[in-house]
Amino acid sequence: MARILTGIQSSGIPHLGNVLGAMLPAIKLSENNESLFFIADFHALTTITNKELLETNTLNTAAAWLACGLDTKTNILYKQSDIPQVTELMWYLNCVTPYPMLANAHSFKDKSNQLANVNAGLFTYPVLMAADIILYNAEIVPVGKDQIQHLEITRDIAIKFNHLFGETFIIPESRIDPENMTIPGTDGQKMSKSYGNVISVFGEEKLLRKQIMSIVTDSKELEEPKNPNNCNIFQIYKLLASEADAKDLENKYKKGGVGYGHAKTELLELILYKFKEPRIRFQELMKDPRSVELELKRGAEKAREIANTVLKKVKFNLGLVRA
Ligand code: TRP
Repeated sequence: MARILTGIQSSGIPHLGNVLGAMLPAIKLSENNESLFFIADFHALTTITNKELLETNTLNTAAAWLACGLDTKTNILYKQSDIPQVTELMWYLNCVTPYPMLANAHSFKDKSNQLANVNAGLFTYPVLMAADIILYNAEIVPVGKDQIQHLEITRDIAIKFNHLFGETFIIPESRIDPENMTIPGTDGQKMSKSYGNVISVFGEEKLLRKQIMSIVTDSKELEEPKNPNNCNIFQIYKLLASEADAKDLENKYKKGGVGYGHAKTELLELILYKFKEPRIRFQELMKDPRSVELELKRGAEKAREIANTVLKKVKFNLGLVRA
């Protein structure tokens, strides 16, 4: 049994891309492993300066994880800021992190042409992320492709620390789910809030319908044969449908006689069917935010125990405290 951990930086209500690409695969992994999932609200402060926004983002994200079926009896769901020990560990790690390693991180480098907008938190973002992971003895970290470099940095820091101060940390590995790595949005690009191409799987049916009807297609007529491989509707449909249903629609596309409007309706119905329970659960949780907060507090209690044990060892190995 390996310990899984992953952090979620919230930017609103998770969409279909988040759910299929990250949440459901991570929940599946958590079924056989003792796992930790946290809302990275300290990290969010590098970009969010609005109190209400930070609060609602945290609530929405936690509710979405619970609605998707994360079992908090056997796993730990918590808020990063409930365990401020992580920032203490970050300081220790800062002191062994070489400057060029951070200067080369994409998260910073991509913005280095507008340095005036880069705060120190953004620069040291990977060190906090390393602390997030090794504070809890995580072994496997499910992440998207864009986080691979951060995991490499985490490993480098942990290895260096162990080398300098003796065996302290477990060296974690990243885990990328190759099948679901990129979920296409309504325009065919990767589904992302910043591209405005999302499918709001927890949204109202009216919104869902509008987004699905806006999926970009070519202008082939109903009777014409169509290529499922370059159709955005089909690409999303096949991620959700049973193999038999996907094959069926694929054949209809190839034969002709099915219009894009029809395919969109099929996709809408499939989403409503597949996410019936999570959608209801999400609405219930949003009406009762205290129950979500309570879940997070309970998670924090369990996470804190692990964190304190590891931190104690760190401080001992550093020479800050005696046994
Ligand atoms: N940086 C990650 C992201 O943007 C979020 C994150 C923060 C994270 N800390 C983490 C992911 C620790 C995995 C492990 O997606």
